[in-house]
Amino acid sequence: MEKFELEESLKEEIRAGVLGDGFMKIVQSVRRGGEQFKIAIRPVEIGGERRYQAEMNDAGQVSVKNFDADGIADGLEELIAQKGARDLHLMTAKGDLHIRVTKKGRALVSRSAEMNRSVELRPHDRVKNLPLTAFDSGAFLKAASLADGEGRVRASMRGKYDQVNEFLKVVADVLKGFSLREGETFTVVDCGCGKAYLTVALYLYLTQVAGLKSVRVYGVDRRADVIAAARRMADVLDLSGRVEFVESDLAAFEPPNESRRADMVVSLHACDTATDEALAKGVEWKARYILSAPCCQHELQKTLADKGAFAGLMRQSILRERLCDILTDSFRAMIMRILGFKTQVVEFVSSEATARNIMLKCEFCVKPGQSGPVAEYLNLRDYWHVTPWLESRLEGMLKRHLERFL
Ligand SMILES: C[S@@+](CC[C@H](N)C(=O)[O-])C[C@H]1O[C@@H](n2cnc3c(N)ncnc32)[C@H](O)[C@@H]1O
Repeated sequence: MEKFELEESLKEEIRAGVLGDGFMKIVQSVRRGGEQFKIAIRPVEIGGERRYQAEMNDAGQVSVKNFDADGIADGLEELIAQKGARDLHLMTAKGDLHIRVTKKGRALVSRSAEMNRSVELRPHDRVKNLPLTAFDSGAFLKAASLADGEGRVRASMRGKYDQVNEFLKVVADVLKGFSLREGETFTVVDCGCGKAYLTVALYLYLTQVAGLKSVRVYGVDRRADVIAAARRMADVLDLSGRVEFVESDLAAFEPPNESRRADMVVSLHACDTATDEALAKGVEWKARYILSAPCCQHELQKTLADKGAFAGLMRQSILRERLCDILTDSFRAMIMRILGFKTQVVEFVSSEATARNIMLKCEFCVKPGQSGPVAEYLNLRDYWHVTPWLESRLEGMLKRHLERFL
């Protein structure tokens, strides 16, 4: 037996523990030249199947990979064959095994008393109602810097954490009863993804909680720095190829699949007319679901500068801004309705968290061009003598519906 090598009976005990039903977690820490290399493996349920999640911490650099049973068996042999002084802790339903390998290569072994712990592979078993606790989100929260090294949500990121949770609740709500047919892939585009908190959380939620087996998510943003940061996060979480980030203006982006279609389009606080662009793209890509939380909106303010009886209101910049926000979102909701989307305007987070707490929740499921919604739209539009940006953008599609009433 070589120095540092474990006895065959110990190796067998570790293999049986990790690959058996009662496996809970194995952690090995190796000290190497003053630095620490740590690997923690635990079973997780992904898409209804048993998988193994390995979190590697190499002198502070954290990365996470998911493995199937074959992959973990290979990884386990590497872990067992590790050289040098190290600590290993194996937890199973039956109890704990501790092995400390000293610098001289001696293995000091201790075991807990026999236990009968229950092991449930349920990703839903922690805090109820919060989507980010409905699956194993620890690695994501750390990689996105939403949580610290101990897995606690950072106080400074609590707002973002809440926002992503609330967004995911809306996703869960619209997807109730939805399922993919065999062989289908669910394509999502996050327009103006920024640092991709939502993009990545959405992928993990759809695959690990909503039970969609094949999901492809594209995060699009015109800023090179946020796309680089988002790609690093996808690498750390081993999501490359499933969650892709594209540096592009929204107007120039098309889903790189054969049909040029997306099933779901989301945008969270994409600036000004980028929200309209996201809605327009969702319509063009024939998305069934479009979820969009608008941000600042300046477009209408420019054209509503002087409005007769409203002149006193318009003089106050805060009131003018709020009125333009309400009108812009009303026009958006009405246009989406005309184009066949059942559209609800909801408050997806509390107004204390952000004043930008409105979301347009659209599902393509009604007959386009119905007279009621068209008449309502034209009345409001003509009252204000404006042409909303979204109408101009989708002119080709809206024209035939509006013309019938003009
Ligand atoms: C306020 S951030 C929101 C980021 C992210 N959705 C979130 O909520 O964390 C808005 C993002 O939209 C991007 N954006 C705005 N207009 C865009 C456009 N026309 N094309 C692509 N990205 C755009 C910006 O670069 C920015 O990263």
